[in-house]
Amino acid sequence: MKRMNSKLAGRLLAFFAISLVVGCSGRAATEDTEVDLGAAVSRPAAPPSGAATATAGRPADLTDAMVQEGARIYSGVGICAACHGADAKGAIGPDLTDDEWLIGDGEFEQLVAQILTGVSAAEATNELGAIMPPKGGAAITDAQVRAVAAYVWTLSH
Ligand code: HEC
Repeated sequence: MKRMNSKLAGRLLAFFAISLVVGCSGRAATEDTEVDLGAAVSRPAAPPSGAATATAGRPADLTDAMVQEGARIYSGVGICAACHGADAKGAIGPDLTDDEWLIGDGEFEQLVAQILTGVSAAEATNELGAIMPPKGGAAITDAQVRAVAAYVWTLSH
């Protein structure tokens, strides 16, 4: 790793995280809950529901249906959980549940834009130089990006 440039290291990390999820379909996500009794262990840990309650500052076009779809995308086809953790509290990628934003302001449209473009090596703030590919590297539509951004927005609001 010593001679590897950080961009390459980031790509490798990204690849590793994606293969983890594809290969184990979220099994890594259960590790945190293993102290819990049987039921919790046998199914993959669910991320916070993002249960939509009326929140101040919530954009009018951010609907409950989007939030629910976004939660499914987050831990499913969006592969976000691979890098941000099943509970979205961070792994390779940062915690998305707190209200500290490393890059943007955490507002809905900014989250949409950030997820669409990802985070380049130049923009990334982590010491590993880990990057986030556009759309997290997932094959999701722009509408799915808006849904997952809606879910992420609710985590900190
Ligand atoms: C391959 C790993 C990886 C995947 C997959 C991934 N991310 Fe990221 N994400 C990162 C990294 C790394 C950063 C940048 C952290 C930094 O600044 O160093 C980041 C940053 C972010 C940020 C900005 C956080 C901040 O504090 O400003 C958001 C929002 C985000 N990701 C959401 C998502 C969503 C939603 C998905 C799924 C569609 C996703 N990410 C998939 C690795 C990933």
